[in-house]
Amino acid sequence: MTRVLSCIQPTGDVHLGNYLGALRNWVSGQHDAEVFHGIVDLHALTVTEAPEVLGKATLSLAAMLFAVGLDPDVATVFVQSHVTEHSQLGWMMECTVSYGELSRMTQFKDKSAKREAEFISAGLFTYPALQAADILLYDTDEVPVGDDQRQHIEITRDIAIRFNHRFGDTFVLPKAVTPKSGARVMDLQDPTSKMSKSATTDSGLISLLDEPAAVLKKFKRAVTDSDSEVRYDRAEKPGVSNLLEILAACTGETAEALATRYSQYGPLKTDAGEAVVELLRPIQARYHELMTDRGELQSLLRKGAGKARVVAAATLARAQANAGLLPA
Ligand code: TRP
Repeated sequence: MTRVLSCIQPTGDVHLGNYLGALRNWVSGQHDAEVFHGIVDLHALTVTEAPEVLGKATLSLAAMLFAVGLDPDVATVFVQSHVTEHSQLGWMMECTVSYGELSRMTQFKDKSAKREAEFISAGLFTYPALQAADILLYDTDEVPVGDDQRQHIEITRDIAIRFNHRFGDTFVLPKAVTPKSGARVMDLQDPTSKMSKSATTDSGLISLLDEPAAVLKKFKRAVTDSDSEVRYDRAEKPGVSNLLEILAACTGETAEALATRYSQYGPLKTDAGEAVVELLRPIQARYHELMTDRGELQSLLRKGAGKARVVAAATLARAQANAGLLPA
């Protein structure tokens, strides 16, 4: 079976755009491939300093991944730092990538420029080496990523090729694949921009943890336009089309079909808001249940780390032996 790895950093709440655009497909796709989902807390450490923030975000993201429907008996959901092989292979990857290659990474250039006077850790610079370890440890065939991550998959392939060339066949060469994309959810206040946690205000952003009243209010205040025709037309009517697309993603109908049923914006906003409240209801119930039962959540993560470690340990041992590290 094809082996697929996706990793997500524990920074900030998961929002409706993440869910309808990606997570929902992770859930529906979990039986079609052998899937690994890493919560990459070591990567978050490159920019997050507050221990209570990182720990809480890691736990919360784990609860959310199970709450949306990743099945711990099917998918392998684990926390990166629980599988120590990531750090161990990460070092070997740092010794396989060059300073010049890392210097050319656009994400490093962007992130370090944004940090201006702030502390720029060496980890931010060597980040792609750890990411290469994440991927290569699992003999990963496919890594579903957006365009911003393609360069990181390319460098992972370059590292794997170099290592295999130096030390003999060790790693499977992964390839970047375009994730099967779900709905494209836009900001409710700025419907020409994707819903994103880096938006300036959160009035256009629906967190999966928003209370029903907050969700309804944000939909009521969603930006539309000054005429009053309900029509699915992304270019001319981005706000209305976004509401239709969200409602469509919740009900399984098409945005075009839904458009014919509305003649005013008010009822469309109400229905979209209510549909999202209903969509989130069981997810939130399961999330809160897991968050109040830390023992259960921790045991699910232990189970995931155990499954991940079986694969990761074998790959690490192979890499260490091939590179000439003396067995302990
Ligand atoms: N760099 C990725 C991001 O910022 C996160 C990540 C870390 C990742 N390790 C990975 C993604 C391995 C895919 C595979 O989104």
